[in-house]
Amino acid sequence: MNSKILISPSIIAGDLSTAGTDVQQFDPGIVDLLHMDVMDGNFVPNLTFGPGFIRSIKKHTPIPLDVHLMIEKPELSLESYIEIAPWCIVIHYESTRFPGRSLAAIRKAGIKSGIALNPATPVEAVYDFLPYCDLVLIMSVEPGFYGQSFMENSLGRIKKLKEYIDRKNLNIMIQVDGGINSSNIKDVVSAGAGIIVAGSSAYKDMKVNLNTAELKKAAIL
Ligand code: DX5
Ligand code: ZN
Repeated sequence: MNSKILISPSIIAGDLSTAGTDVQQFDPGIVDLLHMDVMDGNFVPNLTFGPGFIRSIKKHTPIPLDVHLMIEKPELSLESYIEIAPWCIVIHYESTRFPGRSLAAIRKAGIKSGIALNPATPVEAVYDFLPYCDLVLIMSVEPGFYGQSFMENSLGRIKKLKEYIDRKNLNIMIQVDGGINSSNIKDVVSAGAGIIVAGSSAYKDMKVNLNTAELKKAAIL
């Protein structure tokens, strides 16, 4: 059932220069997670922030942090993200030759480990890594920017992964990221997603508490 979904507003859709004070206004009873999009200008054609910025944001809010690493060779800087002790760290399948090693290091630190898949990567690619994951992130846009349109074929990908997870009786959450709003969130959740990232739809008019509550309502209507 759809009763327990988590919504994770993506802070790059806000004003990064005021993010510290902005997140202080977010209600931890409504906003379940804060999504931190780390982009390196190499794995994706955009550059955002690194561990220092995330560490600063953490001081301003009790809301657990959901760190999405869109960086080449995450194993080279993973330790600096692990030290922050976020709720989860998600690496991209396409960014490394050693996904298993990074997932194991994240888990060993007591942090939820996640693997993300670009729209072009078949979902079957991660099946062998599921024993090392707490969540799989299905990208529903090409990573790099907020404000893009949801790719409809993502629904079939989410369903396929969900069926596999259920068939194997695994305890793994599906996170979906990109272009999710109050019109399509229900379809995404019905397909099997448990964690929804929302950038532009959550930050619309900077009313993050209100928008997040509305997204949750729309997910179960
Ligand atoms: C895209 C990022 C997403 C993005 C979501 O590369 O990973 O997290 O910020 O923003 P919206 O919901 O506007 O697509
Ligand atoms: Zn993201």
